[in-house]
Amino acid sequence: MTKLKIGIIGAGYIGGVHASILARDERVHIAAVHDVAHEPAQRLANSCGARPAQSASEVIESCDAVYITTPNTKHTELAIAAAQSGKHVFCEKPMATSLAEAQAVLETAGKSNSVFQVGHNRRFAPVYTTLKRLLTESHPPHSAHVKMNRGELLQPAWVGDPLITGGFLYETTIHMFDMMRFLFGEVTMLQALGSTHEYPETDDFSALLQFSGGMHATFASSADAGWLFPYERVEVFCHHSTIVTRETESIVYNQLLDGQNIEQSMHQLAKEEKLGYQQEDQSFIDSITKGLPPAVTAADGYKSVELVEACYRSVRTSAPVKF
Ligand SMILES: NC(=O)c1ccc[n+]([C@@H]2O[C@H](COP(=O)([O-])OP(=O)(O)OC[C@H]3O[C@@H](n4cnc5c(N)ncnc54)[C@H](O)[C@@H]3O)[C@@H](O)[C@H]2O)c1
Repeated sequence: MTKLKIGIIGAGYIGGVHASILARDERVHIAAVHDVAHEPAQRLANSCGARPAQSASEVIESCDAVYITTPNTKHTELAIAAAQSGKHVFCEKPMATSLAEAQAVLETAGKSNSVFQVGHNRRFAPVYTTLKRLLTESHPPHSAHVKMNRGELLQPAWVGDPLITGGFLYETTIHMFDMMRFLFGEVTMLQALGSTHEYPETDDFSALLQFSGGMHATFASSADAGWLFPYERVEVFCHHSTIVTRETESIVYNQLLDGQNIEQSMHQLAKEEKLGYQQEDQSFIDSITKGLPPAVTAADGYKSVELVEACYRSVRTSAPVKF
């Protein structure tokens, strides 16, 4: 079997996570790694039997599939270049950091015959696949509260810099916008309030959302909170039932009003599996090798950017955004 040649552009933390997962997949070979800094590229290349490449275009030209794992505002140009070259693309979240960029990526991915997947890994995390199954099969939701807090924005150093992140909501919080669509469907209205505390941008948000199926939700995200567990939580309210997730560690719910709770812990899983990284990489390679549609599409990437932009717009204008 000829192995798929994988290239990685951006040899930092998450590039390393994907590389270690892909190195165990017999269907692929990590062929080339590029980073603007030589040392991380050399180190990551050494760790997985790849060669360090001098440029992003060298990676794109020499590989069948390209992982874009650079900081947020450096995704669009590279993702477009790789998709235009007909390569399969795995683009870390956020797919873009403005609506215009997201539109450009969406159009380019739409013209390509190759796979384009966005790194919204939480869709694959067992906590959230379990929640999705409960909501679909037995617990139709009527409302929810979703939160994503951060304690500080220091690691990596650029995560507190809006010029590189595109804004706080484009960092980890964007996962929860994607998660709300995954769990509850399309958003029809969003209204948000925001304030500034620690960082040179709006860093604390409260929002109200309406979904096309009639569900509604409240949403909160603060960049300047604390690491009080769980800093990521989804609470869903259903008929005589509440379902709560605690980060990607556990899910607890009641079936009836008799005080009996059911808890499923994911604590024993390895971090890569708990967070869904392993499953999303496997799914990406499955899509390429089996001709399947990607599990998280460029259209999904676009929609999460659209929700982030709507949140900022609503804060700026003090008005709801309708979709
Ligand atoms: N899905 C997730 O759960 C998850 C987790 C962590 C990070 N991420 C995303 O992955 C991306 C990278 O995050 P990270 O934590 O690995 O950051 P990082 O700072 O650890 O690594 C980024 C690397 O990209 C390199 N780089 C910067 N500009 C480049 C360019 N133009 N071309 C090539 N290399 C370039 C840097 O030198 C650095 O080595 C971010 O967009 C982040 O939001 C996603």
